[in-house]
Amino acid sequence: MPVDRNAVRDRLQFYRELGIGPLYRREASTYLVSDRLEISPEETSACDAALTSTDNTAFVNTANADRHALLRIIQDDIGPNCQRCGLGKLGRKQVVFGTGDPHAQLMFIGEGPGADEDAQGLPFVGRAGQLLNNMIAAMGVKREQVYIANIVKCRPPGNRTPERDECDACSPFLMRQIQVVRPKVIVALGATAAKNLLGVSDSMASMRGRFYDFSPPRTAAGTGEPLECKLAVTYHPAFLLRDPRQKKETWKDLQMVMRYLGLTAPQRPPEAG
Ligand code: URA
Repeated sequence: MPVDRNAVRDRLQFYRELGIGPLYRREASTYLVSDRLEISPEETSACDAALTSTDNTAFVNTANADRHALLRIIQDDIGPNCQRCGLGKLGRKQVVFGTGDPHAQLMFIGEGPGADEDAQGLPFVGRAGQLLNNMIAAMGVKREQVYIANIVKCRPPGNRTPERDECDACSPFLMRQIQVVRPKVIVALGATAAKNLLGVSDSMASMRGRFYDFSPPRTAAGTGEPLECKLAVTYHPAFLLRDPRQKKETWKDLQMVMRYLGLTAPQRPPEAG
């Protein structure tokens, strides 16, 4: 079907006004707009629904139904060879974007990819990831039902703590992911995640055991609706591997989250990792 370039340009502008984009060149089955700009069929249909509606409800609903596409736009914005901070040149193999259900009620945010994550391109797939899987299963939820991401998307060399400028360079993309997924609860895994998300530098002891109200900045447009969710802090699974006695405390944090989400633990909790 021939595509009216002006109409597509208008749609792209509409996306931009909502804070979505910029939209970049895509591989097969995309509509060529110019040498630089293309829009995929699923993005086009989201725009179509939005443009034919008389208010913005259709857009919000369409966007809700199209969170995969919105997350892909963010991933494309980052690009496969991001150089926005020094980590791009410090030996990382790939950008580890995040994974899980784009409609998840529960989102876990860790610190940054380790060697296994860097190799596989997925967050929390190494030893700490196995423990996180067990924590998720203990909550009566499947890993595929939650969304998992990190403060930084590239592996810091030697698994060092990511530096301020590295976290800051990655933060706008994480905020956009949160705005698209719209979780009810975010669990910050460890002090780096907690401090970066909350903008504080308190001790783990003082940050755990309570909920914070969390809103990604309005610039992190996703569905266009402001998002308010709860944020809980707990120990990082890698720390729990070093100090398993803290698993009991972690379980208390997770139970607080479960109560809020109305989740009940399975009868026989899966074996702790
Ligand atoms: N530790 C993290 O903080 N994130 C990962 O993805 C893996 C280990």
